[in-house]
Amino acid sequence: MALKLAVLSQKGGTGKTTAVRHLADAFRRAGLGVAAVDLDPQGNLSDYFDVDPEAEPTVRDVLVGAAKAKAALHVAPDGVSVIPANLQLAEAEVALAGKMGRELTLRKALKPLDDAFDVIFLDCPPNLGLLTVNALVAADFALLAAEAQYFARQGVEQALEVIELARDGLNPDLVWLGVAFTIADMRTVHSRDAQTALKEVVGDKLLDAVVRQSIAYAESAERAVSIIDHRPDLGDDYLALADEVLERLGLPEARRRLAPLLDGGGGSPAR
Ligand SMILES: Nc1ncnc2c1ncn2[C@@H]1O[C@H](COP(=O)(O)OP(=O)(O)OP(=O)(O)O)[C@@H](O)[C@H]1O
Ligand SMILES: [Mg+2]
Repeated sequence: MALKLAVLSQKGGTGKTTAVRHLADAFRRAGLGVAAVDLDPQGNLSDYFDVDPEAEPTVRDVLVGAAKAKAALHVAPDGVSVIPANLQLAEAEVALAGKMGRELTLRKALKPLDDAFDVIFLDCPPNLGLLTVNALVAADFALLAAEAQYFARQGVEQALEVIELARDGLNPDLVWLGVAFTIADMRTVHSRDAQTALKEVVGDKLLDAVVRQSIAYAESAERAVSIIDHRPDLGDDYLALADEVLERLGLPEARRRLAPLLDGGGGSPAR
């Protein structure tokens, strides 16, 4: 059974898509079969993975029932299977809103992938609308992405309300994995204060691994090269985050396979 992990936040630009892109890459290096679903009409995830922008079918086709999920898988150059998105997804979201069982659409559509992968990432758009709700109903786990800023706390609280709604209703088994600082400059007092403030609210749910802020992420995205290869020194942040997420997912075998890559060994792809 594939574990499904939704990455979400209440607002835009918190590093969700960058997190999905690199956690997926780290998990692949740890020997897991990994897929990622782009649920954002902006199509950033598809872009970061260098999937052909004209690739079809897309997640839009899957959600409107015009294609099966398996047919919409496109293997990215580094080996992760991606169900891409483009602007047509915005129209599909509107169409979906008027349908019975609209919150269950993605969950049903992804069922056939259960035997094909170990982990499926769901990259949510920057709002808590129907596509994010579909992700939370399809997911086994939810990970919040946050910038280490003072207002992170408010965004986390709003996202948690939506996770609670999913748990109270259609997906009682959904597990909140935690919050990760996916863009952080811990050299500043502001970021360290934000960390302390959030820790007071969420306790151990705040992951220890922190992704340092760096312009190299923009370069990595532009070149569609994983940060683990582009800047192995920074890539260590994502390997450490992947290790912590694997621990929380209960995947000790994969953690053992990731261990040799931690602390500097990340640049050598295990492929
Ligand atoms: N650790 C980081 N340091 C600096 N910049 C980063 C970092 N992580 C991501 N970025 C950059 O921040 C921008 C937003 O990142 P990303 O697309 O991952 O966020 P997002 O939360 O998915 O955004 P959206 O809400 O629009 O979907 C991108 O330009 C990305 O390259
Ligand atoms: Mg995004």
